[in-house]
Order: sequence, then C-alpha cells, then structure tokens
Amino acid sequence: MHVAEGNLHGAELLQAQAHVWNHIFNFVNSMSLKCAIQLGIPDVIHNHGKPMTLSELVAVLPIHPSKAPGIYRLMRILVHSGFFATQNNSGETEGEGYVLTNASQLLIKDNPFSVTPFLLAMLDPILTQPWHYVSVWFQNDAPSSFYTAHQRTCWEYAGHETELNHFFNEAMASDARLVSSVLVNECKGVFEGLNSLVDVGGGTGTVAKAIAKEFQHLDCTVFDLPHVVAGLEGSENLKYLSGDMFEAIPQADAILLKWILHDWNDEECVKILKQCKEAIKGREGGKLIIIDMVVENNKEVEGSTETQLFFDMLMMILVTGKERNEKEWAKLFTDAGFSNYKINPVLGLRSLIEVYP
Ligand SMILES: C[S@@+](CC[C@H](N)C(=O)[O-])C[C@H]1O[C@@H](n2cnc3c(N)ncnc32)[C@H](O)[C@@H]1O
Repeated sequence: MHVAEGNLHGAELLQAQAHVWNHIFNFVNSMSLKCAIQLGIPDVIHNHGKPMTLSELVAVLPIHPSKAPGIYRLMRILVHSGFFATQNNSGETEGEGYVLTNASQLLIKDNPFSVTPFLLAMLDPILTQPWHYVSVWFQNDAPSSFYTAHQRTCWEYAGHETELNHFFNEAMASDARLVSSVLVNECKGVFEGLNSLVDVGGGTGTVAKAIAKEFQHLDCTVFDLPHVVAGLEGSENLKYLSGDMFEAIPQADAILLKWILHDWNDEECVKILKQCKEAIKGREGGKLIIIDMVVENNKEVEGSTETQLFFDMLMMILVTGKERNEKEWAKLFTDAGFSNYKINPVLGLRSLIEVYP
C-alpha cells in the first residue's frame, strides 16, 4: 500500500524504522563472520570434538583477556545467523556448549570445500572499498566502481598486486573444488563423447585438474591470463596456456566457462562467445559448458533470489558484468550465432548450461 509521507503512525511507523535499521546493519552479519574466521573460532570448536562451553572457547582464543565478554556477544549473533548452535554437554556440570552447523562446517580450514578463502577475499578492503564509490560511479564514465576506487580494473589490479592475485585465485580455487566434485560425480554425462576441453579463464586449474583426473582420455587445457598461469605445471592430460580470450581461444571439442560470462557485459560476452564458437568449429558434438547463475531459476534454495541479486550487484561493482535470467542468456547465445542451449539447475545457486552451435 502506498502511504503519503508523514502519514505513518504507531506500529507502522516503528516497523518502518525497524526495517531501515535492519538494512543499515546488514553488513554486521558478514563482518561478525569474518571476525570469527580470523580468530579461528570454527576450527577451535571443530577440534574440540564436543560442545565447547564459552569459558573453554575464551581460554583458547588468541584474544586480550579484557575482551573475553565480547566473545559471548559475537557468538550470540553467529548463533542467530545460523553459523553455530548450542547443545547440552551430556553428563557434564558446565552446561551448554557451542557446536558447528552445516554452514560453519564449510568454514573449517581443512575442509577441501572451505568457503573461507572466498569470504576473506570478498570482505578484504580492496574489494569492499568500491562499495563506497557506487553513487560516484553512477555519475562518472568509469567501467566499474572498482575502477573508480582503484583507478584500474580488477584484472589489471590483480596483474600488478601479487596479494590480490593470490587471494583472488585462492578464493576461486576453493569454490572450484566444491563445484568440480559435484560436476565429476553427478554430471558425468556432460563429458561423454568429448576428446578435448579448454577451461577458458580456468584460474589455477582446479576444475580442469578434477576433470582430467576423472576422464583420463580427455585432453584438458587451462587457459587464463599470464599472471594467473605463470609457473604452473600440467600433467599427462592437462596443460596450462596463457592468452587473452578476447583475441583467440585454443581449439577443442568443448569449451568450459565457469564464472566467466557473469564478469562481462553483453557486448563483451558476445565477443567471448564468438571466440568460443570459432574454437569448436567443425567438431562433431562440439559445445560450450557454462557454469553460472540463471537468476530466479533455483528458488528451492533458501534465500536464493536475494543471494543472486547480491551477486548481480557485486558483478556491477567489481567488474562490468551481471547475473542473467534465462531470457538474457538466450539472447546472448543467439547474438553470438549459437542455435540451441540446455539449462540444468544442478549446482545450487548456479546452473550448468550446455550451448550448441
Ligand atoms: C571469476 S574468475 C573464475 C575462475 C575459474 N573459472 C573458477 O571459476 O574458479 C575469472 C577468471 O577469468 C580470467 N580472465 C580475465 N580476463 C581474461 C582474459 N581476457 N582472458 C583469459 N582469462 C581471463 C581471470 O584471470 C580469472 O581467473
């Protein structure tokens, strides 16, 4: 219902204020989580092996003694946001203790699917600073808010600053480990009949390594910018090649594009897709395998639409990209000269899209 300004009263007025407050402090959830990770709390609770009481937790954390009461408050909000739970320590006098939840299992360092590198990268000041420049960026002609904040693109920055290059690549690799495990175990059919594959923008090669290991007859190539693949060693059916996907992409039966097209605007995507089409030209069964979001098609995952919209904003702020719905994907494929596609929403918030010439 539309309400004229100043006409809110009583409960409605207070509800509106509460809504605004909640959104002002949305960042408190992410920053509290970052702090817990930096203090090593998920690992400490995991290693404890049973519910960990507050005093046990405080005793082992690397904190100043005067800050101990703050840990209770930090844990309280993280219990509220679903990262820890409390459980009774059966038979012990000291009562309840903290345990991990499914979400915080993903924050343990030794978990191969750990989301921690991704979280630390996304919440690093280099990547959060551009959020303070969004309104400035709307008024200038810079390609992204990242550019407005740092006077160069994200890719140029990573090419010159080893710290960003390293933590960005590690963030990508940690996600790639999770996705490739689902890919090689549950989407085997996608690779049937292929003899060669190029992972375009394949980072340090985590996905290609998993595919090469599972499908030993498949010749895999990781293709990325020079500063990303410099010094990386391949294996029997895996090699690294540096280059620029806007200029040329090595020939193969299949081109994999994981988390690539969402980094670029429509015009740039059509250029990349046309290079991909050249790369599979004349090959029997040639296709593209895209792993990216299809906005609003994975509604069964809780909060998925909001998370997809977060990613869409992130792509606008950090790079020149966006998250697309099915209609927008279909237009890109047609504009690049492809005839058909199939969307398979098998990767949580993301989908596996096969595109045929
Ligand atoms: C979002 S990351 C995705 C990495 C990897 N595919 C994954 O999902 O883990 C995008 C990748 O594209 C690479 N990239 C950016 N511009 C490129 C270009 N012009 N040619 C080739 N790769 C490029 C980046 O270096 C980076 O590794």
